[in-house]
Amino acid sequence: MTKIDVLLGLQWGDEGKGKIVDVLTPDYDVIARFQGGPNAGHTLEFNGTKHVLHIIPSGIFHDDKINLIGNGVLIEPNIFRQEIEALAEKGVDATRNLYISKKAHLILPSHRMMDAANEQAKGNSRIGSTLKGIGPAYTDKIARSGLRVGDIMADDFSERYHLLKVQHLQMAQTLRFDVDSFRIDGMTLDQYEELWMHSLDTLRRFRFVNSEYFINQCLRDDKKVLAEGAQAMMLDIDFGTYPFVTSSSTITAGVCTGLGVAPSSVGRVMGITKAYCTRVGAGPFPTELFDQTGRTLCEQGHEFGATTGRPRRCGWIDLPALRYACMINGVTDLFVTKPDVMNNFPQINMCTAYEIEGQRTDEIPFEYNTVPITPVLTSFEGWQCSLEGTTSYDQLPVQLRHYLATIEQQTGVSIRAVSISPDRKDVIFKQ
Ligand code: GDP
Ligand code: IMO
Ligand code: MG
Repeated sequence: MTKIDVLLGLQWGDEGKGKIVDVLTPDYDVIARFQGGPNAGHTLEFNGTKHVLHIIPSGIFHDDKINLIGNGVLIEPNIFRQEIEALAEKGVDATRNLYISKKAHLILPSHRMMDAANEQAKGNSRIGSTLKGIGPAYTDKIARSGLRVGDIMADDFSERYHLLKVQHLQMAQTLRFDVDSFRIDGMTLDQYEELWMHSLDTLRRFRFVNSEYFINQCLRDDKKVLAEGAQAMMLDIDFGTYPFVTSSSTITAGVCTGLGVAPSSVGRVMGITKAYCTRVGAGPFPTELFDQTGRTLCEQGHEFGATTGRPRRCGWIDLPALRYACMINGVTDLFVTKPDVMNNFPQINMCTAYEIEGQRTDEIPFEYNTVPITPVLTSFEGWQCSLEGTTSYDQLPVQLRHYLATIEQQTGVSIRAVSISPDRKDVIFKQ
């Protein structure tokens, strides 16, 4: 029996998970998403083309590999259909190798409306949600009123759909949300609903499975399985910067509930971090830069959301947060992405501790959102050269290797590979 390996983000998302999963896929038989939904935007680049995936696992471009959407994931049928069609235009027929858990929950158009209504009600303390309906759909899951993929085959699906929609409309009214003016992609709720219903036909063309049996059988058959995380540690519902988080378990433990595997079946845990740090949406970010350096990171790193197009907030790498992420997730291997973005920096800073009310600490405090946090910074000399053409770890500039060695020493986890461009071919494994 093999163990399931896990790959997840250690910061606030967009660390390059899609790219690294794509690079690792040749080593695996099955790639499985375990949580999140269309709030994710995972970018892959190869042969000069860029692809962005939201719900579909990042192994989809390798047609001899099975891709699985687990029970912990949320599916928005219309976004799903659009992804399937975009893949088809690129010659990828996902019906061949994409399996879907019958227990994955559905995002209804009215969940998306409720996302907007909740954000509006929060006013200045809004989360900065991607407005894909994530919070409301997971709320209904926990409240035991959600609809699942398997339900679309049931005779009473339509009835249950309308009951839930009516509940949402009532809630919107309570929040004084203007339903008539609400639009999704320029469409009214009713127009979007029509498209959504039509998109269920696309969903029905796929293999619906009892994915917990499926995945455990794969492990018993000694197949290699990789669980692909979405969002990231610091957006986790329990351990992230609550309430500025997403509504799922983004951590290693989420693999067990999101796919139905036992904790003892978890193997390696690969954590991804950028060589700096970004965050999109609201919430605390102690190392955020508001100066030209921050703007340079944003411009050089093309730091704009793959799902919403919003500019990402940028700052220095945050070691207290990274150590916390390694602890909570049991990270065994680190992947560092995007050091190339800082190629021209004469000096690079790393936050190694926080100073809170005059006290130095290594811990993420409960009061993360409310108390002023001063990052304690250590400076490193930049490498000030291009990394293009580097093929081995030893060829990386000595300044960068020193920076990476400090990350290893500070987290106690070894780096397995460094990514130096968006392209699939530019990942340098440390021997
Ligand atoms: P994900 O959500 O974790 O899959 O990450 P995103 O796709 O949202 O954001 C990562 C962005 O960085 C994408 O635009 C990638 O193409 C890009 N990227 C990934 N790795 C590297 C790298 O090593 N260097 C550079 N410059 N860009 C990278
Ligand atoms: P990937 O998988 C970055 C952020 C949103 C918002 C908060 C809650 O591409 O790394 P939600 O829509 O989940 O209710 O939004 O979480 N967020 C992400 N930030 N990358 C993501 O996914 C994200 N998914 C959600 O910006 O602050
Ligand atoms: Mg992303």
